Amino acid sequence: MTKKKDTTAGNTRVLRTKVKKKRGLKESSRRWLERHLNDPYVQRSKADGYRSRAAYKLIEIDDKHHLLKPGQKVIDLGAAPGGWCQVAAVRTKSSEATPHVVGIDYLEMDAVPGAAILQMDFLDEQAPARLVEALGGEPDIVLSDMAAPTTGHRRTDHIRTMHLCEVAADFAVSVLKPGGHFLTKTFQGGTEGDLLDMLKRSFRSVHHVKPPASRDESVELYLLAKDFKGRAPAGD
Ligand SMILES: C[S@@+](CC[C@H](N)C(=O)[O-])C[C@H]1O[C@@H](n2cnc3c(N)ncnc32)[C@H](O)[C@@H]1O
Repeated sequence: MTKKKDTTAGNTRVLRTKVKKKRGLKESSRRWLERHLNDPYVQRSKADGYRSRAAYKLIEIDDKHHLLKPGQKVIDLGAAPGGWCQVAAVRTKSSEATPHVVGIDYLEMDAVPGAAILQMDFLDEQAPARLVEALGGEPDIVLSDMAAPTTGHRRTDHIRTMHLCEVAADFAVSVLKPGGHFLTKTFQGGTEGDLLDMLKRSFRSVHHVKPPASRDESVELYLLAKDFKGRAPAGD
């Protein structure tokens, strides 16, 4: 089905996997599979024991912006298959006995050491309270890598994922501790207008970030809002 060919890149020997054209496999699926099998981040994630290549996006963003620190409480929205939870649990030194990383996804996923996982839809009206309850208090960081399932209709996909991004942002400003951070997946051109204005009012700095692990050809972009100013006291 596949054949491997040795090529040389600099001094490193690279094994390239070719996926043969065959009946029943659409050309677009064949190309996707070939790209996936030859993706260095996919190969690294297997070697490093990460559940997803997405783990490296958080690693690269955190290495640059220094968000995750030992002892912090973290909420991870759209957690499956668990790469970001793995990174957050290790970097915050979250323990299995008292996890201070909580992930949520409507997909079932394997347990992640140091993280508590809720299998539910984040858009369920009970999700925010369940997350804070599972965490045992307000988070220092809210992460969201949520993406709506793709329909093939680009505009529809953007609108759905932007809706998730907006609900995640509202959640973040309603639960974060002062000084906390919010990182969310978005799209190029997606976070203009009201959402960006709200984040700029609520956080001391807002950055668009494209980590190297996010494919150049992808319109995916991350929005990082740092240093939450806090909520006005009740009654103001
Ligand atoms: C790109 S994946 C996340 C990958 C993850 N960061 C990792 O490192 O393994 C996006 C996830 O968002 C989840 N998702 C999308 N909409 C959701 C919703 N309304 N509630 C919970 N999870 C959702 C999907 O099920 C999917 O697993």
